Amino acid sequence: MKKIKKGFASDNWSGVCPEIMEALTLGNRGHNEAYGELGDPVTAAAIKQFKNHFGEAISVRFVYNGTAANVLGLSQLMRSYHAVVTASTAHLNEDECAAPEKFMGAKILEVETSDGKIKAEQVKPFLSSIGFQHHAQPKVISISQLTEMGTVYSLEEIKQLADFAHDNNMYLHMDGARIANAAITLESDFRSMTTDAGVDVLSFGGTKNGMMFGEAVIFFNPNLAKDFEYLRKQGMQLHSKMRYIAVQFDRYLYEGLWHKNATHANAMAQLLAQHLSAYNQLEITQKVTGNGVFVRMPQELIPIMQHSYFFHIWNEQTHEVRLMCSWDTTKEDIEGFVKVLHEQLS
Ligand SMILES: Cc1ncc(COP(=O)(O)O)c(C=O)c1O
Repeated sequence: MKKIKKGFASDNWSGVCPEIMEALTLGNRGHNEAYGELGDPVTAAAIKQFKNHFGEAISVRFVYNGTAANVLGLSQLMRSYHAVVTASTAHLNEDECAAPEKFMGAKILEVETSDGKIKAEQVKPFLSSIGFQHHAQPKVISISQLTEMGTVYSLEEIKQLADFAHDNNMYLHMDGARIANAAITLESDFRSMTTDAGVDVLSFGGTKNGMMFGEAVIFFNPNLAKDFEYLRKQGMQLHSKMRYIAVQFDRYLYEGLWHKNATHANAMAQLLAQHLSAYNQLEITQKVTGNGVFVRMPQELIPIMQHSYFFHIWNEQTHEVRLMCSWDTTKEDIEGFVKVLHEQLS
């Protein structure tokens, strides 16, 4: 079997953290009710953990992956003549193979950003479509926390977007594939960033922070969750052995595992950025606020570095690359990367 070298490609190239593996093993004992149906104690325990973090009023449903959490969560808020406004760089817009368009059957309105973050002023021009029968009706603003550019929305920025959405009869959706990393950056908790800030629906991810698979769709107003079960089943995202998603979330949210993993990943990104900033041939292009470092490097250096430590090119034209750290990135990984870099640049 080909051995893949450890690198900085993505936080889902890393494996499953030991605590989650242990939880899966323990959860594997005996029989359990399928499909997370009432009476399944494992799913009930995980839901309780979510309520501890986000508040009693939420409704939470599990799906397999982040694309499904986004697409099904948004589908619940929209009809086919609606539109969702999001950053052009959003996973929803770029990396979901038009699943949103196919399954929501609705339109995506893109906003150009230099840092992955959208502002209410950028959504305003779309409002002129409201009530005009020839245009798709803007219904949702979708933001990513962290963004795909590794940047973070402050609590105030989220609140402003939520207020703006609600003032205009729209909803705020958050893609939280890396919400744990954002919470560490903001020295915040999940609740302040979502429930208290006015988010309507959240795609809550754990796969990038040490879990094996599974995402949660969280509705902050349970009325919005009505009939979601049917949409999930129709969307082929009802996991038969639901306990294996639930048992992971239960452990992930218990005793701060999410916090430990994300703290480590973010700290590694800071360390990496600190090393890289010593080289004037490199330019860090985004503020390093999470577990990713975006850096422009000489074009000829990219394949040499990729050979030693694989990572993805973010922008071919500008030679910008993305280096992602994860729960299992070590200081030695970073020092090894910097050693190769140093040999090339000095
Ligand atoms: C911002 C963001 N949202 C969602 C996802 C989840 O995608 P997947 O369907 O691969 O789990 C990802 C994964 O790359 C992501 O980066």
